Amino acid sequence: MRELLLCPPDFYGIEYEINPWMSRARGAETAVAKAQWTGLQAALSQLDCKIELISPQPKLPDMVFTANAGLAVGRQFIPSNFRHKERAGEAPHFARWMEERGYQISWLPNDYYFEGEGDALFAGEALFCGYKFRSDIKSHRAIAEMLGCLVVSVELVDPRFYHLDTCFCPLPDGAVIWFPAAFDEYGQKAIREHVSDLIEVEPDEAMHFCCNAVPLGRDIVLPEGAPKLANALTKRGYKCHQLPMSEFLKAGGACKCLTMFMPQRDKAG
Ligand code: ARG
Repeated sequence: MRELLLCPPDFYGIEYEINPWMSRARGAETAVAKAQWTGLQAALSQLDCKIELISPQPKLPDMVFTANAGLAVGRQFIPSNFRHKERAGEAPHFARWMEERGYQISWLPNDYYFEGEGDALFAGEALFCGYKFRSDIKSHRAIAEMLGCLVVSVELVDPRFYHLDTCFCPLPDGAVIWFPAAFDEYGQKAIREHVSDLIEVEPDEAMHFCCNAVPLGRDIVLPEGAPKLANALTKRGYKCHQLPMSEFLKAGGACKCLTMFMPQRDKAG
């Protein structure tokens, strides 16, 4: 059974602006955010997975986005090196928590930015890694060596889709949901070469973060606002669970950002 890491939104809020979605002036509704997060937890709890919770920490409002804790493969955990100082304080909490659960912690060099599963997703044999806005391409090479697997680095070009998991979602049947315009031409080519079954989403649905989905077997938990994608997935035999995520979209996140797989794969490659 898949294990997922979530972090309750006790200290969640828009307290700084590190991506184009975030506006301190607009803020997030605390009570609504709590209800939406609880809705995500409840939806996932019904599915074939086990949920683990890490204690939220004061002054780390984005700690809810556990996809950025790091990358877990087998019993190995590579913690994130956050690009922005606002989130850097999260890393030791996540690393300690994973270590207490028996993971072997492999730190990247300090100056190699890497934002975890948010920028690193396995599809088929390859680990696709996004770079530019948050993770550095040099971290990808280090990760390929640490894990001994094929890494395909893809450049992200639209600041609204600053993490890979905002525009790329591998499914258990080998297909990948993606928003091509978020990648440069070379990245699009690399993805097309490696993945034969691509499900393209349209800009209006991509803007609702429909690629930010959590696939669990034949179930997919995704933000509401993407009826075309939900239809396409239903036709393929998936059951879609569409959830309101407005208060997390205000921070530039949704279902997948709020979730980390422990581990994402049992083995690399
Ligand atoms: N406000 C957070 C940030 O900018 C959102 C992180 C979303 N996480 C993700 N995996 N896409 O870092």
